Amino acid sequence: MPGVFNLSVDEAVQEARQAHSLGILSVILFGLPDKKDEAATGAWAEDGIVQRASRAIKRELPDLVIVGDVCLCEYMSHGHCGVVRASGPQSLGAAVAAPTANRYEIVNDASLELLARTAVSLVRAGVDVIAPSDMMDGRVGAIRKALDEAGFSHTPILSYAAKFASGFYGPFREAADSAPQFGDRRSYQMDGANLHEAMREIALDIEEGADIIMIKPAMPYLDVIAAARERFDLPLAAYQVSGEYAMIEAAARNHWIDRERVLMEALVSIRRAGASIILTYYAKQAAQLLG
Ligand code: PBG
Ligand code: ZN
Repeated sequence: MPGVFNLSVDEAVQEARQAHSLGILSVILFGLPDKKDEAATGAWAEDGIVQRASRAIKRELPDLVIVGDVCLCEYMSHGHCGVVRASGPQSLGAAVAAPTANRYEIVNDASLELLARTAVSLVRAGVDVIAPSDMMDGRVGAIRKALDEAGFSHTPILSYAAKFASGFYGPFREAADSAPQFGDRRSYQMDGANLHEAMREIALDIEEGADIIMIKPAMPYLDVIAAARERFDLPLAAYQVSGEYAMIEAAARNHWIDRERVLMEALVSIRRAGASIILTYYAKQAAQLLG
């Protein structure tokens, strides 16, 4: 992703300080662990990279709101957002058969366990808002319950409530080295052709206790943002994802479009559709242009 970098803990503190000084109220952290495995250990370890960054940022900037993305894909060797096991007829006789493209399944409940553990660990490290992006069934409820039991009943959940299976995540997956090693995410991310399903998924997350709902990607789904704004009363967020950013950057770097004008136009379209919170790789530029 041109202009977007993986940061060390020290660099993340610098970046947060700069964002804060531009008037940005909140940052979201994603982690890239040293080692990936099949239990996503790096996601929930006490000394995980996001836990360390969060502690360091909180120490310097106590009033900057830290959002923690909760997912397992960046930490799993296979790159899926949940726990994976072999499935289908072949696995009956071979308990240790490795999952492959044709025979694997996402184990929902085992995934919830790890997601809840991750959420609690992040809050202990200073994360203010938990943002589950995995799309497993029941994750908001499971995380809410785990947070309450750990004494964090006031920590809000920003749920990626309608996350579509999308080609626009490509640059992020490359940067986080989190593309699935086999299969794809269509069994848990949503079908872009189905607006009604998106509304149902959002309603479910609200029932389970979401405090903020998010639609992702943003610009190809502005109608979904508008429909959700009409229908639900919670704060509504939208994520202008890596591919949306990369398209603008590519065209701007070729002098085909005017970057500042187009990035603001894209952000205004998301705002006009009804989002009151926007996640964007252009946050610093936008803050400067607005400031
Ligand atoms: C993790 C996650 C992804 C993004 C945010 N959280 C990747 C994915 O679902 O493949 C994508 C963000 C972006 O493209 O900017 N599940
Ligand atoms: Zn994921």
